[in-house]
Amino acid sequence: MSKNKSVANKQNLKEKFFSRDMKKIAQEKKDVRRNIITANTHFSVTEAYKAARTNIMFTTASEKGCKKIIITSSVAKEGKSTTSTNLAITFAQTGARTLIIEADLRRPKLHQYLNLPNETGMAEYLGGFIDDPHEIVQHIDAYNLDCITGGHIPPNPSELLISPAMEKMLEIFAEEYDYIFIDSPPVNVVTDPVSVAKLMTGAVIVVRQNYTTSESLRQAIAALEFGNIKILGYILNNSADMRDYTYNRYKYKYGYRYGGKQYSYRSSHSHYSSYSHSNKNQ
Ligand SMILES: Nc1ncnc2c1ncn2[C@@H]1O[C@H](COP(=O)(O)OP(=O)(O)OP(=O)(O)O)[C@@H](O)[C@H]1O
Ligand SMILES: [Mg+2]
Repeated sequence: MSKNKSVANKQNLKEKFFSRDMKKIAQEKKDVRRNIITANTHFSVTEAYKAARTNIMFTTASEKGCKKIIITSSVAKEGKSTTSTNLAITFAQTGARTLIIEADLRRPKLHQYLNLPNETGMAEYLGGFIDDPHEIVQHIDAYNLDCITGGHIPPNPSELLISPAMEKMLEIFAEEYDYIFIDSPPVNVVTDPVSVAKLMTGAVIVVRQNYTTSESLRQAIAALEFGNIKILGYILNNSADMRDYTYNRYKYKYGYRYGGKQYSYRSSHSHYSSYSHSNKNQ
């Protein structure tokens, strides 16, 4: 083989290798967003979120002005970020001015779920590198939704989230939005959700079927109640009893595999039940 031919071959191989890599990265990015609702999402899933939306609207109706809702759960991976993103999208669809804020500064996910750049976000504003919080708001045309991502992972997330800048930011945005959603870390793992929830209308707790234990849920409720946080309701994520769904004579079954496990997708998304503080000791 001539020297020229072997160089061309190598070049060819290199291009193939990297284009496969780029394809893999693009696929991984798409996979990360697979549970976020789009125009193509099965209507049974979007309907479930709409039902949750109606319930949250009723539960918060007595609050005047902007409704500020924190989404949390007892432990990791119960579906907080997925639920908060999908709820924010569903609220924005009504034309309500909606903002979603990343407050899981240790493991930020919103930028991935909403496919946004994450160069500047909460960490930069709360850390004092940006004065005007409007500068970190990103608008998503497709959803008519505003989002503040986490930014770079800071060394001191808890301190940042209880800083006066956090309070100031929420005061400013409460004048400009109808609904503000905050995605947060698990309440049994860090104290951040309780500190942030004190500035909010209330908390919605995500419970994942066949995953959340009653003990960890009890512990999460106790932590929120100890902080005097109003629990607005629960979202049952990945609930199995919605696997078969009948709607207008048609029966839908919609499932797929995730992490080696079969999930009923439509399930997931929201059996919402509201919670009254008067029941808390029952
Ligand atoms: N109903 C569901 N069906 C299938 N997969 C789901 C469902 N809900 C969430 N997931 C997947 O589970 C993983 C964790 O979800 P998500 O990031 O929303 O959880 P989280 O509670 O925010 O996690 P963390 O505690 O790490 O912030 C993601 O890969 C997400 O796509
Ligand atoms: Mg999360």
